[in-house]
Amino acid sequence: MDATALTAVRVAALAILLLGAGACSERSAEIAAVAALTAGTAVAPARAATAVVDEAASGEAIFEHWCLPCHGAGADYPGTMALTQRYGEARAVLLERGDLTEEYVQAIVRNGFNMMPPLKPTEVTDAELERLAAFVASAPQAKREHPVSR
Ligand code: HEC
Repeated sequence: MDATALTAVRVAALAILLLGAGACSERSAEIAAVAALTAGTAVAPARAATAVVDEAASGEAIFEHWCLPCHGAGADYPGTMALTQRYGEARAVLLERGDLTEEYVQAIVRNGFNMMPPLKPTEVTDAELERLAAFVASAPQAKREHPVSR
């Protein structure tokens, strides 16, 4: 691997380290986000997601495995931080939103979104993606009166 790639790996490793240290200060999340940006790669999740949980996994279990590392509530999560900057705090935490449709969630997961890397069918199958999107779109359970389609 060349010097640039090596630097990117080092910076990404630093980002993971900072996130994984359980540091709950906003500052370290900021450093991690900047480090990930500097690396010029997609942001690194707090913990690496590899294999699929299991074939019958619920939407919630799939979310916890593939999405929570970036979309948990709090300053330690790069997806949540990016959405805070893009839309403001009210739309920062995916599971606290009431405006996400299943179609939109599926499209984002398959195509990625800026720093969010896409997931292939070999990672999350179409059947799993349906359960995952249904779970995300139905959360929070009570807030589905005014779905926004985008
Ligand atoms: C590596 C970190 C990472 C992972 C893993 C990740 N995301 Fe994201 N996600 C992001 C970032 C960063 C953004 C915001 C990009 C931006 O605004 O520029 C984002 C944005 C989104 C959005 C757009 C929200 C909106 O209002 O437009 C959705 C939906 C989403 N993610 C769903 C998911 C789901 C579902 C999963 C799990 C399959 C997932 N993400 C996994 C980082 C991640």
